[in-house]
Amino acid sequence: MSQGHAGGKIILMGEHAVVYGYPAIALPFSAVQVQVTVEEKGDSLSLSCALYQGLVHEMPRVWESLKHAIRLSLYRLGAPTDPGLHIEIESTIPPERGMGSSAAVAVAIARALFAFYGKDLSDKELWEIVQSAEAIAHGNPSGVDAATTSGQKPIWFVKGSELEHLELCLDAYLVVADTGKMGQTLSAVEDVADLLCTQPDAEAELVALGTLTQQARLYLATNQADKLGQVMNQAHHHLQILGVSDEALDKLVEVAQEGGALGAKLTGGGRGGCMIALADTRKKADDLVMVLKEAGASQTWIQQIGE
Ligand code: MEV
Repeated sequence: MSQGHAGGKIILMGEHAVVYGYPAIALPFSAVQVQVTVEEKGDSLSLSCALYQGLVHEMPRVWESLKHAIRLSLYRLGAPTDPGLHIEIESTIPPERGMGSSAAVAVAIARALFAFYGKDLSDKELWEIVQSAEAIAHGNPSGVDAATTSGQKPIWFVKGSELEHLELCLDAYLVVADTGKMGQTLSAVEDVADLLCTQPDAEAELVALGTLTQQARLYLATNQADKLGQVMNQAHHHLQILGVSDEALDKLVEVAQEGGALGAKLTGGGRGGCMIALADTRKKADDLVMVLKEAGASQTWIQQIGE
């Protein structure tokens, strides 16, 4: 029996713009985790998770990216295509909420299968497997989800460039709240692409998001939580103009801003999923959790940033 693990991710700044080569800042989010267990069982590859139990080759099309992560791992391992193995996925990462669930599952699957066959998995190979699966899940992934969920550190991510790890010196707390609505990363990414074709002026929103992300990096390094909060608020506004927010996210962002957050914005693909709010003290973060829950958040988490 072998196991593979991965955590979730939170994009602090730069989602969507990152697809077009602008920077993003993302943090591993260890409050949610996925664990994959692989063991010998039966004659054919089978899988169980919260939403599916059965043979891998009979999985419906919606599971294509997960199937791809399994098949590509087996191929890279030189293992049989349909071995007598059972894969069990246990996850506390809510799916389709902008927390990198699909990438994290692919990371944990690759790790568990490589461990089962006793082979080392290099960072490069892990990245290739997860990115390939993500291309099926999200169409045109920047790679930020694959990079963050396979690592342990906050990252500065620019598509096609060497990954940079960030030391965060910020004395603040991040409150993460789930709207309870499935996000729609694939359609949100496609709609931004369409918008850029039909209204080339929309590129200005991406430029602005890129600049705000650069500023956020400085504020994270120099412990300026109030300034970071301001750029988060501005980023949410630009994401709204790009059309990737929705009523539920806007409501939670507004409630957080009015409830004493230094700043708030959606995180990840948007159109449902999660939002984040910045608090300067643990007490403020706890208060924000209360108001966000009252406003309808289905789940909330608190993460200290400069941990
Ligand atoms: C999804 O977590 C983040 C997006 O920027 C898409 C991507 O970077 O692939 C919306």
